[in-house]
Amino acid sequence: MTTSAHVPVELAALKRRITRHLWLHASPPLEGSSSPEELQFLLETTLRSDARRIVEIGFNGGFSAQTFLSAHPDTTVLSFDLGRRRAARTGKAYVDELFPGRHTLIEGDSRFTVSQYAGEHPGETFDLAFIDGGHAYENAWADITNLRALCRTGTTVVMDDLVPWRPWGAGPARAWSQAITEGLVDQHELYQDGKRVATVGQRATRAWALGSYRALPVVCC
Ligand SMILES: C[S@@+](CC[C@H](N)C(=O)[O-])C[C@H]1O[C@@H](n2cnc3c(N)ncnc32)[C@H](O)[C@@H]1O
Repeated sequence: MTTSAHVPVELAALKRRITRHLWLHASPPLEGSSSPEELQFLLETTLRSDARRIVEIGFNGGFSAQTFLSAHPDTTVLSFDLGRRRAARTGKAYVDELFPGRHTLIEGDSRFTVSQYAGEHPGETFDLAFIDGGHAYENAWADITNLRALCRTGTTVVMDDLVPWRPWGAGPARAWSQAITEGLVDQHELYQDGKRVATVGQRATRAWALGSYRALPVVCC
């Protein structure tokens, strides 16, 4: 993938600005956040898929959310996060200040909140889904399967943390492989530390995949 000429924001600067804001408000982003390369990828993916309605699991201090919102003046983002940390509150207020009316944060355990939200908003679907929440296999698997209710056949899905040799990557990698094997998603692209690869090598610090949701099986009788 190459960087398009009209990319509207510089992601390293965006990351520095948000980090500074969180620290100034005594809310350090304690969990990992997306690297500038990954933010660049998310921005490019939003632009090339022409996504306007984006859903993500894992808000933290709002790095990925602000990236999506910077892509186009019409993008909106729905984020799910436990919301237990101060960074989530400060990050949410900062997003609302910069992008008023374009962001929703649903607090709580996404294993339950995603399905609950889908049940309360029948027919609501998104153009792009980003999964970067809990790292245990059970969380990652629940996030992939439950998000399907908020997506259409073909909706782009980005799965983060596909580094099984790292403590935070075993669960997401296993859940993503299972989703491919069971025919829930198709994988189209794989990235290691910002570069497109055929397979992820064991030296990778960061790896993620771009895929899409497949059609739901027809249940008969
Ligand atoms: C790696 S951070 C997300 C980073 C974010 N996408 C960014 O780029 O700034 C993971 C987030 O997932 C959230 N999380 C962990 N387990 C969760 C769960 N069961 N339900 C909802 N959110 C969860 C954490 O609170 C944390 O903010």
